[in-house]
Amino acid sequence: MATKILLQLMLVVAVAVLAVEATGAVEFTYNGFGGARLSLDGMATVTPSGLLLLTNDTNMSKGHAFHPDPVTFRRPATNDTRNITMPSFSTTFVFAIVSEFLDLSTSGFVFLIAPSKDLSTAMPQQYLGLFNRSDNGDPRNRVFAVEFDTVRNPEFADIDNNHVGVDVNSLNSTASATAGYYHDDGEEEEEFRNLSLISREPMQVWVDYDAAATEVTVTMAPVRSPRPRRPLISSKIDLSTVISDEAYLGFSSASSIVLVKHYVLGWSFSLGGTPAPPLDYRNLPKLPRIGPKPRSKALIVALPIATTAAVLAAVAAGFVLLRRRIKYAELREDWETEFGPHRFAFKDLHHATGGFKDTRLLGVGGFGRVYRGVLPSSGTEVAVKRVSHESRQGMKEFVAEVVSIGRLRHRNLVQLLGYCRRKGELLLVYDYMPNGSLDKHLHSHGGYDVRLELDWARRFHVIRGVAAGLLYMHEDWDQVVVHRDIKASNVLLDAEMNGRVGDFGLARLYDHGADPQTTHVVGTMGYLAPELVRTGKATTRSDVFAFGAFLLEVACGRRPIEEEDGVDDDDDRFVLVEWVLGHWREGAIVGAVDARLGSAFDAAEADLVLRLGLACLHPAPAARPTMRQVMHYLDGSATLPDLPETYATFNTPAAMEIYKPKFFDSWSTWRSTTSTATSGAAMSDIALSGGR
Ligand SMILES: Nc1ncnc2c1ncn2[C@@H]1O[C@H](COP(=O)(O)OP(=O)(O)O)[C@@H](O)[C@H]1O
Ligand SMILES: *[C@@H]1O[C@H](CO)[C@@H](O)[C@H](O)[C@H]1NC(C)=O
Ligand SMILES: *[C@@H]1O[C@H](CO)[C@@H](O)[C@H](O)[C@H]1NC(C)=O
Ligand SMILES: *[C@@H]1O[C@H](CO)[C@@H](O)[C@H](O)[C@H]1NC(C)=O
Ligand SMILES: *[C@@H]1O[C@H](CO)[C@@H](O)[C@H](O)[C@H]1NC(C)=O
Ligand SMILES: *[C@@H]1O[C@H](CO)[C@@H](O)[C@H](O)[C@H]1NC(C)=O
Ligand SMILES: *[C@@H]1O[C@H](CO)[C@@H](O)[C@H](O)[C@H]1NC(C)=O
Ligand SMILES: *[C@@H]1O[C@H](CO)[C@@H](O)[C@H](O)[C@H]1NC(C)=O
Repeated sequence: MATKILLQLMLVVAVAVLAVEATGAVEFTYNGFGGARLSLDGMATVTPSGLLLLTNDTNMSKGHAFHPDPVTFRRPATNDTRNITMPSFSTTFVFAIVSEFLDLSTSGFVFLIAPSKDLSTAMPQQYLGLFNRSDNGDPRNRVFAVEFDTVRNPEFADIDNNHVGVDVNSLNSTASATAGYYHDDGEEEEEFRNLSLISREPMQVWVDYDAAATEVTVTMAPVRSPRPRRPLISSKIDLSTVISDEAYLGFSSASSIVLVKHYVLGWSFSLGGTPAPPLDYRNLPKLPRIGPKPRSKALIVALPIATTAAVLAAVAAGFVLLRRRIKYAELREDWETEFGPHRFAFKDLHHATGGFKDTRLLGVGGFGRVYRGVLPSSGTEVAVKRVSHESRQGMKEFVAEVVSIGRLRHRNLVQLLGYCRRKGELLLVYDYMPNGSLDKHLHSHGGYDVRLELDWARRFHVIRGVAAGLLYMHEDWDQVVVHRDIKASNVLLDAEMNGRVGDFGLARLYDHGADPQTTHVVGTMGYLAPELVRTGKATTRSDVFAFGAFLLEVACGRRPIEEEDGVDDDDDRFVLVEWVLGHWREGAIVGAVDARLGSAFDAAEADLVLRLGLACLHPAPAARPTMRQVMHYLDGSATLPDLPETYATFNTPAAMEIYKPKFFDSWSTWRSTTSTATSGAAMSDIALSGGR
């Protein structure tokens, strides 16, 4: 009970911190809008089938829908001279305009990027709910929009009554073209084909901004057809002077006298140069049928043929079903019934990931391949990890553990949703983390701008998140859970760039299956605690050691151990902890901070993180702080004691043998100077697995 209250308190604090540091999503996907958290106003609604309907049957009115959180296009500049430019972005959506009359519509809609979600002063009709008579063309609007206009308004110099236009602060488009696309037909010259916006047919649009070329392209095509190579519009525009640092993305539309419905079926967006995630057409909601069901006069003629066909189809279906049974076969044993809801059907996971298509592959890790998927039942995005596993021995214990771990719930853990078991493999289903793993951001060369993506404030936020997640596993849940493989590649970033610990408990799989005769140490070089190497027994203390290595990695932007190219020689290794220690001995530990950050970091925080990293990397398990102490140090409620001058680490088992007599001395020295706000009870090296 007390733990629960404490946890809630911690959550309240954590959420408050988040609110201050909240940042927009870098990527999002809506395959339909059922259950989506959109900001809607005016006539806009989401239909029960998941369609975003911007207009209803009210005339002379407006409708707006926005992705709820602002997207940070630029971080506020710190006081250095470099200019932070706007990154590229990419978005795609599927829409349909359904007018009361097939040949007449009196308004269109726009996709927009605006500094505010409040468009209450905008006007309906030809102003598309975007601007009003007086602010049309005002550069202070800072609005970028792409209009799909079904009326030719001479007052905005429109080209025709079926056009697409790129709008910058004004409904007078800077570039426009008749709706349509360039059909590519192999080698031949592309052929332009008209599209009628009011045809009631769904169409797909791609809007891309290339920051390097300062170019906007708009491409469209009938839905489900491949993206045309040649865009409909390409226009040189420098959006860095248009789009505000933080901006909202959404749609705006308006009605006039003729009733018209503007639908958006699906939408995705990506910032930073990667193409917008593809939409999953099969999961897009269907447009409602218009008018009565067409009746076929041919029915009477077709009936006998249909009957024969039906019989044949039934036989064929029998065969297909049999094949499916084999294709979707899974292992299920009696003992698994007790784990009920955590068990997924393989068929659902197969569908969710588009048959484990390569295009859905998120990455390949030490345990197997990870795919992105959308659960057909709920529409939630998931990551499915396929772990191959030969031995059935230990599987029951492992599944029991997976299920119990699935009950761990914390905002800094990647939620495990369930599992599925087949012959020779285990599938684990996790919440999808749109920003991938931390190490990709930390060690990427090119692509993302590290300074922009992972500035110091973000790194510190991620560190605190990971510490909170680990503390929860170690101390605040009803069982002690040892992670066993803390490292930057097991820290994933959610849509808000919060650090979340992933892969917990997986290392256990290898323990269970392992031959008891051979000590099989699971973990990663540079993160392995000395006692773990010696005994093979993972404890919360060995997690703290790995967390120390993680702290240094995040602060310095370098891996714990870096092999020099091609040379497999101990002397030619870069050992991060030794390097940081070098700086520490010279009394300038912050000199070890990632050089790519320049001077843009908080020196006091960096000093704390680096010294804390060293403390966690203490060779003696009991001298390392607990995660609770780590949390106190990080939030400033306790002061991290100075390391003893004799502090030394070891990196290889051999070196450890040499250090052994020495570090026990220094350990006791260090301990005696340790005074913290927490109860000191946890300082002895007690047995750590099992309940408390
Ligand atoms: N829940 C998730 N959401 C999004 N991407 C994920 C998720 N889990 C794993 N990935 C991606 O798959 C890659 C491989 O994952 P994983 O098998 O956990 O790696 P490792 O074994 O190296 O820790 C990761 O680098 C990450 O990019
Ligand atoms: C249309 O939307 C407006 C504004 O939300 C609402 O007042 C009105 O009742 C809606 N009309 C219909 C027919 O749903
Ligand atoms: C549209 O609005 C006008 C008044 O603004 C009203 O007279 C008319 O009946 C409305 N038409 C429809 C179809 O709702
Ligand atoms: C940036 O520099 C200006 C003057 O050069 C100073 O007034 C301001 O406080 C600085 N801001 C920050 C965040 O350091
Ligand atoms: C930064 O941008 C301003 C205005 O856009 C320009 O005058 C200045 O030269 C730029 N500075 C650098 C270092 O590029
Ligand atoms: C037009 O919109 C602006 C804000 O963009 C507002 O200040 C102004 O009052 C509006 N004008 C009219 C006529 O509604
Ligand atoms: C838009 O175009 C019309 C017609 O060419 C022109 O009269 C009007 O001034 C333009 N408005 C703006 C804001 O550029
Ligand atoms: C395409 O649209 C243009 C402009 O509206 C029109 O002139 C042309 O005839 C249309 N072509 C076809 C094939 O519909």
